[in-house]
Amino acid sequence: MNTSKARITAIGSYVPETKLTNHELEKLVETNDEWIVQRTGIKERRIALSTEFTSDISTKAVENLMERFDKSLDDVDMIIVCTMTPDFKTPSVSALVQAKLGLKNTGAIDLNAACSGFAYGLHIANGLITSGLNKKILVIGAETFSKILDYSDRSTCILFGDGGGAVLVEYDEDHPSFIETHMGTNGELAHNLYCTDLSNQMFGNELAVNGFVNQNGREVYKWAVNTVPKGVTALLDKADYETNDVDWFVPHSANLRIIESICNRTGLPLEKTIYSLEYLGNTSAASIPLSLDKGLREGKLKPDDKLLLYGFGGGLTHAGMLIHWSI
Ligand SMILES: CC(C)(COP(=O)(O)OP(=O)(O)OC[C@H]1O[C@@H](n2cnc3c(N)ncnc32)[C@H](O)[C@@H]1OP(=O)(O)O)[C@@H](O)C(=O)NCCC(=O)NCCS
Repeated sequence: MNTSKARITAIGSYVPETKLTNHELEKLVETNDEWIVQRTGIKERRIALSTEFTSDISTKAVENLMERFDKSLDDVDMIIVCTMTPDFKTPSVSALVQAKLGLKNTGAIDLNAACSGFAYGLHIANGLITSGLNKKILVIGAETFSKILDYSDRSTCILFGDGGGAVLVEYDEDHPSFIETHMGTNGELAHNLYCTDLSNQMFGNELAVNGFVNQNGREVYKWAVNTVPKGVTALLDKADYETNDVDWFVPHSANLRIIESICNRTGLPLEKTIYSLEYLGNTSAASIPLSLDKGLREGKLKPDDKLLLYGFGGGLTHAGMLIHWSI
């Protein structure tokens, strides 16, 4: 069933310089380092400057890719930015990135599937390239979550951070990266994780219309540890893979307890898992590319390794993907 003609050929990432540690959060809300580490595994996260937006982070992630890989981007024909924290409602982040990078002949779209976004972005890039519609696509996962967090709400502000990662996906019939995908949505649970803007009256009038992320953490937790393992199993079954065929598991870096539970329930070993949450927090759509780049820099990822990526989050949505690592 491997009909893909698309290959991931380069990666880059960027995180803002400013760190926000758990100890610093103790000064903002009633919390403590021990509680946060025990419940989430997170020690610190990065926070964008007030003048730094998702398009800036996206652009810097692509510039990092260009510094490290000898790739021309002049013939990129699509930019897909996966984000739920765009600079504006319009223009799109991807249009701003096009301008900042000076790319001449490219389409540009944003994709909002919250923390599942990057996996959806890769899926669409693979589809566009495999169908012959495009040849070279930048897929970027980037967020400035700090701009939609209420730093007096300890149930959310301890979790999230800012950052971005970018990959280049190119036409390559002989060495495709994409093996299989599996995705799903539980929109009926949307009210457990949402962000309204100040004018938006959704879900009746029961929900907070405050411009911030609001979350029922327990419900999201329960959903994730039940849904993702089933999704992982369905994905492996579709590809006729066993868990031990997977060299690295790269789940969305929401929370270490969720990841541990997914590993326990699926049999994917935690030692073969790459995550980016310890020093970056939950970076939503950026977390999987940030983990991939971390795994590459640490010498873990090798060409031809088989990776299982799994994004999950707001929507509630989830999306998993088996790929051959090809960088
Ligand atoms: C957010 C989360 C860490 C909270 O952990 P939890 O074990 O569910 O915590 P609860 O909300 O049940 O609260 C347990 C206790 O800790 C307290 N508490 C909540 N947040 C706290 C904080 N930041 N610091 C200290 N104490 C806190 C609660 O008030 C409660 O106290 P009580 O027992 O005296 O009433 C957890 O629900 C979670 O990880 N959910 C998934 C969130 C997520 O990953 N979302 C993104 C998905 S993409």
